[in-house]
Order: sequence, then structure tokens, then C-alpha cells
Amino acid sequence: MIVYFSGSGNNKRVAEKLADLIKADIERLDDGQRRCFFRDGFQAATQKTVAIKQLTKDLDYYDDIVLVTPVWAGNLPAAVRTFLLNYKDRLLGKRVWLASCSGSGEDNKEIVNKAIKCLSKDFEAALLLSDAELKKAKADQKLQDFAALIARPPSC
Ligand SMILES: Cc1cc2nc3c(=O)[nH]c(=O)nc-3n(C[C@H](O)[C@H](O)[C@H](O)COP(=O)(O)O)c2cc1C
Repeated sequence: MIVYFSGSGNNKRVAEKLADLIKADIERLDDGQRRCFFRDGFQAATQKTVAIKQLTKDLDYYDDIVLVTPVWAGNLPAAVRTFLLNYKDRLLGKRVWLASCSGSGEDNKEIVNKAIKCLSKDFEAALLLSDAELKKAKADQKLQDFAALIARPPSC
């Protein structure tokens, strides 16, 4: 299952492309907020949590969860941080993957560690794309490679 958060649509595109490649169910994280650059950046930078709507799909049903998120102010958006903290117990026995499209792409490696801290466990793998890459075919190859990793059966 793919759980994504997206303000302006880039990570929605990433999530939809991945969902198509691995034939996954997909659900958007919803904090019910109108987007506001300063409040969003401030909440992310100060590592706030926010109220998020409960997922409609049952996480327990899935073995693999792919989280797709932007980077805001060098951090996770508050809604994503909240999702990881609220759901980490239910994600314990699962393979969890991280994909992110952000302005700086691979230069935002630290976001993986920040997400690991919230989740209290490692991701199987992480894909960091930049906004510029998403506009080019280069992202398609990276998304296909990432999807192939996810689709591989778990090793014993
Ligand atoms: C409030 C805010 C803060 C951002 N901060 C960063 C940042 O610190 N580093 C970065 O690489 N991109 C940053 N970005 C750019 C987004 O991560 C990037 O445009 C991303 O693709 C947006 O995804 P979305 O369209 O799914 O919302 C920021 C964007 C917003 C709106």
C-alpha cells in the first residue's frame, strides 16, 4: 500500500506512478489544512505534529507500506511526522519503504534518518528524487528500479 502526502502534486505523481508500477493500493494523508508556505515550513522545522484524518484502508492488511513525502524546511511535513508516530506500532512487522520528491532530491539524505527516528526502525530502501528529475525521464528509470526492489519477494 502506498501512503502519500503532497502539497502541490509532485509526490502525488510519484505515488501514483509507483502504485501503477507495483499495482498497489494508494491513500493520501490528509491534515485538512489549506496549504500555507510559512505555517507549513514552520510546523515542519519545529517538528510539530498535527491532526490527521484516519486512514480509510486497514494497514494490517498489507505487508509492504511505501511512504511518499516531500521535504519541508529540511524536515518531514507535520502530517507525515504524525503519521509515522501514530502508526509506528502497526508498521513494526512490515517492510516500510520511503520515496520523496523535493527541491534538492538526493541532497536531502538526512530526511531518511529523521523519518527513521519517528518510525523507530529502518526503511527497506529510500528513493530521493528532485523536482527537476521528476520533470525528466530520469525519474522514470529510478521509479522503475525502486518499484522492482519493492516487488522482489522478501529474503528469508
Ligand atoms: C513549505 C515548504 C518547504 C520546503 N522546504 C524544502 C526544503 O527544505 N528542501 C527541499 O529540498 N525542498 C523544499 N521544498 C520543496 C518541496 O519539497 C518540493 O517542491 C516537493 O516536490 C513538493 O512536493 P509536493 O508537490 O508533493 O508538495 C519546500 C516546499 C514547501 C512548500
